[in-house]
Parts: sequence; C-alpha cells; structure tokens
Amino acid sequence: MSKSVISLSVLALAVTVAWDATAGPPDWSKVPDKQVPIFYPGQASYEWAMTKADHSASNQVIEKGRGCVYCHDEDATDIGKKVVAGKPVGNRKKPLEPTPPAGKPGFIPVSVQAAHDGEKLYLRFEWEDTKDSGGKKLDPKNEEKVTVLLDAGGVDGAKLNGCWSTCHGDLRTMPDASDAAKKHPKAKALGWDEGVTKYVKESRTAISMTDSPRGGWDKLKPDAEIEAALKAGQYYDLIQFRSGKGEKPVDGYVLETRHMEGGKSLTKAEGKMEDGKWVVVFERTLAANGTGKHKIEAGKVYNMGFAIHDDYAAARSHHVSLGYTLGLDNPKADFNAVKQ
Ligand code: HEC
Repeated sequence: MSKSVISLSVLALAVTVAWDATAGPPDWSKVPDKQVPIFYPGQASYEWAMTKADHSASNQVIEKGRGCVYCHDEDATDIGKKVVAGKPVGNRKKPLEPTPPAGKPGFIPVSVQAAHDGEKLYLRFEWEDTKDSGGKKLDPKNEEKVTVLLDAGGVDGAKLNGCWSTCHGDLRTMPDASDAAKKHPKAKALGWDEGVTKYVKESRTAISMTDSPRGGWDKLKPDAEIEAALKAGQYYDLIQFRSGKGEKPVDGYVLETRHMEGGKSLTKAEGKMEDGKWVVVFERTLAANGTGKHKIEAGKVYNMGFAIHDDYAAARSHHVSLGYTLGLDNPKADFNAVKQ
C-alpha cells in the first residue's frame, strides 16, 4: 500500500468516527426497559383464539375490541406453564400441546428496550439463559432465534391478536397441517419445502374458523391481489436474529407466506450470551428499504409481537409475546423508542 493510500484510509476512519458520535447505538443503561412475559403457546392458533367454543373470551376480543394483553398480561406465565405441561386449557378443557416437551419452561421473562437516532430504530432484548432441556434439537444450528413482527395498521386484527393473525391451524406442526402443501405448484416459490408457513388472511379468499381443516392455506388469492395487498401495507414486517455460527440475520415479511428475504432495512442483528444472560440487539433503518418493510414514522403506532425460539427450538415450539405497540417518542406506546 502506498503512503498516500494509507493516509486516505486514516482520514476515512476519522470521518466515520466523527459521524458515529452524533448517531449510532444508544447507551442502553439510559434507556428504560419493559418487562414482558413470553409463553409457550402450543397449538393455540388464530382460529382457536377467535372461536368461542375453544376460547370463551373470543367474543370480547371481537365485540369489545379487547386485545390479548387486556386479560393475559399477568397470567401469560400461568398459561405457558399449563400449555407446556400438556394440561387441559381453554373453554373445551383440552390440551394445546399434544407432545409436551420435557424440561422446557412455560414462560421466559424478557426485558425489552427501544430507541432511535432519527435514522435507525434499535431494539434490545435481554433474558436469562434457560437450562438446556436435553430435548431434541429441532434446529441444531441455532440455539436461539429472536423474531420481531411489526404491523403498520394494514393487517386486520393485528392490534388485537398480535402475532396470532399470522398463526393458523394448518401451518406446519399445527393440527391441520397438510402434506399436500409440499406438492402445491407454488410450493417452491412460497418456501413450503417443510410445509406451510405463516400467512395473513388478507392473502386468502377464505379462512375456515371452526371446521377442520382450520385456516386457508390453499385458498390463495390471485398474484395480482397479493401484489396489491403488499402495496397497501397488508403484511407484517419480519426481522430475525439467529445465534448459529455463520447464520445470517433475516429481513423479510409475512403476507401470503413467510418471506425470509427481500428486506434491506435490517442493518444489524447481533446477540451473545454473557454471565448467564442473552442479549440481542437489532438495528434497522426507520426508512422502508427493500420489499415488505414498514416505514417507521413519528406520530404512528405500530403493532409489535416477538418470539424466541429458545434452546434449539423450531416452528411452533417457541415462546411468544402477546401483542404490544411500538412508537417513536410516544409515552403511550408499550415500547416507546425514545430519541437518543
Ligand atoms: C376478555 C378477556 C380475554 C381476552 C381479551 C383474551 N383472553 Fe385468552 N382467556 C381468557 C379466559 C377467561 C380464559 C380461560 C379459558 C377460556 O375461557 O377459554 C382464556 C384462556 C386462554 C388460553 C388457554 C389457557 C387457559 O388457562 O385456559 C390461551 C392460550 C389464551 N387464552 C390466549 C389468548 C390470546 C392469544 C388472546 C388474544 C387473541 C386472548 N387469549 C385474549 C380471557 C381472555
């Protein structure tokens, strides 16, 4: 390297450092946190939660507009304990978990922090490492995965149902999963090699709420309508951290399927375990870059839910949050990203 090139790169470094002083990751010790329980939901689908015969309170969700948090903020921990143990729950007093995984906790308390710097949104999740359950490693590559779903008001019911608006009775590992999905003409394009993944009802012509098979995996709307739903913001923005070595963060969205790429908004998703605690930090642009990303603006409230696939979990064997709200400099939002 010649001398002039060296001095140029030193200059470039100096400029970067100066820029970082005005923006960049916040001092987390100054950002307030919110404690949120995430729990093991078993096979509690959208259809289950919104059907009175299964979940007696569903009419209150629909008629009174009461979201899951309204009733379960406190007892989500007890729900998780009962479900993971395969105990009878809900209005029908039936287990929601047919194969109770040994050694898995029913719930995990998570501390959530949010901040922004005018250009990027920062989300930090911290929780105590759970004991190795010794169970089957369903995703042997990743000990932990953290997934955040964000709705900007386009998905019907997202405000009340949190992530349940994406979870149906006919997804893979759910009671009405169909093997036929893998042979569907669009299976490859939709990423259904292991079966149907998350979708929102805006992408389907019909959803069966009570009759089996519940859901509407094969009732896909024509491509043009799905494209229109994408343009209209009827999807969940999805970002995911993966702890496995060499595993890339995911920047995608959920509409007619779970898209694991297409986004260009996620600039970082890093995490590590230290002193018995996992800490995962996401960094994304407030601007919507790439496909299926919501622009995060001041004055708007977003519906946010998150899930942790703990201890090498996959598919539905995760711990999930109820639905919360996210806003920028908005004390009324559950997760208030304050400018740093
Ligand atoms: C108006 C209060 C209310 C709201 C809102 C509500 N629930 Fe419930 N939930 C209940 C009650 C009461 C039970 C007890 C069993 C039953 O009646 O189904 C219950 C039971 C459950 C159970 C089974 C655990 C158990 O102990 O029986 C799950 C899982 C659950 N609710 C999830 C949800 C989800 C997800 C949402 C949001 C879509 C939600 N609930 C919204 C009141 C509510």
